Amino acid sequence: FLACGYIGSGRRADPDVIVEEMEVLITPKDLQDVRVLVTAGPTWEALDPVRHLANRSSGKMGYAVARNARRRGAHVTLISGPTALVPPRGVETLAVVNAREMEQAVVREATSSDVVVMAAAVGDFRPSDSLRHKIKRGRSDLELRLVPNPDILAKLGTLKGTRVLVGFAAETRDLVANARRKLQAKGVHVMVANDVTAEGAGFDVDTNIVTLIDRSGRVERLAKMSKDAVATAILDRVVELRGTRRDTRTLARQL
Ligand code: PMT
Repeated sequence: FLACGYIGSGRRADPDVIVEEMEVLITPKDLQDVRVLVTAGPTWEALDPVRHLANRSSGKMGYAVARNARRRGAHVTLISGPTALVPPRGVETLAVVNAREMEQAVVREATSSDVVVMAAAVGDFRPSDSLRHKIKRGRSDLELRLVPNPDILAKLGTLKGTRVLVGFAAETRDLVANARRKLQAKGVHVMVANDVTAEGAGFDVDTNIVTLIDRSGRVERLAKMSKDAVATAILDRVVELRGTRRDTRTLARQL
């Protein structure tokens, strides 16, 4: 009995917390103590003090990867652009706003990670100048000059060492061909390709339709499923890759 009715050790935990902790209990720990870094959400590039350039990412896909990696026993760090989501339980969540902040945080955290999954929708461009005062009406048109943002994933691709690197490709056409090009250009082990124009896929929905493409040329098309189920499929692939790489290293030592 709680005298105040609200606060005290006898208070039942929130149902969402109970369900999440039950998920943790029943999930096999095939990523036990593996350090997983995940990015999620959009980046916001300031135009003036009241406006920014952004995209439609809600963060749901990346948060699902972070949540599911934690369920499997991983130590998870989530670097998130601005979203309306509650940070996943048991996950260290670091908030960033723009692509350059995300780059700094990712490069810093990646050094102590075994696996990196880049689900964030990083803005490829930012305004060349962020104005100190609000842009006013009163002119017929307005030209914006944009400059490229750093390609965080490509940078990680050159520094990956023994890390497993997973990227996402958000496409609107030629899904597999474009994703394959990004897999090569960014030096990742697996590319998760989604056609963001398909119904029930991509931005701000609870489901996704993805194709997993790896460096061996394997292309696995998955049906429409919840983002949690997509996260599970991606992490299965990570476990598989880590196993193969460990086996290869052991074999090399034995030879
Ligand atoms: O957040 P949700 O609403 O759930 O939506 C999910 C999603 C559509 C955002 C997600 O499934 C997805 O596709 N994420 C990647 C979006 C994206 O930026 O795709 P891209 O094809 O432009 O980039 C390819 C890869 O390079 C991505 O892993 C991206 O994180 C990375 N990138 C891109 C640009 C950049 N400057 N730096 C990067 O690291």
